Amino acid sequence: MNRSRMLFIGFGGLIMLVSGLALGAEQAADTYRTYCVQCHGLQGNGKGLNVRDMSVQPRDHTDAKEMATRSDEDLFKVIKEGGVAVNKSVLMPPWGGVISDEEIRGLVVYLRQLCKCSYGR
Ligand code: HEC
Repeated sequence: MNRSRMLFIGFGGLIMLVSGLALGAEQAADTYRTYCVQCHGLQGNGKGLNVRDMSVQPRDHTDAKEMATRSDEDLFKVIKEGGVAVNKSVLMPPWGGVISDEEIRGLVVYLRQLCKCSYGR
């Protein structure tokens, strides 16, 4: 196999990888719009339609200062097992039965995009 052909195959793989990642992000945004916005808001700022009637307000996912104090594992756990699992409000439902682990990992990535933060900063 000559060199340019190998380059060509390598490039194809890269394109597949990049479009795969973009697809994952798009899917997470979709999942968020389906299950999370009614409480957390379309912008993820904690101002969804439900909040008027809620005694505990949903987390503002764009609040970098607050979100940076949660590790990815914390976020995964609260999404999968609900607020109660991390000593928070029952008003944050558990999604483990509805959303797959893989999709929850995608949601964690999406939350990091919303807050433009990572754990510790
Ligand atoms: C029925 C309303 C409701 C829905 C729907 C909802 N949440 Fe929440 N969520 C809450 C409330 C209320 C809190 C705040 C709990 C607290 O601070 O005690 C919260 C908190 C959180 C937190 C932060 C927990 C922390 O460490 O402070 C994350 C992350 C989160 N939600 C993610 C999600 C995701 C992702 C979805 C969609 C799959 C979702 N939520 C759907 C109500 C909701």
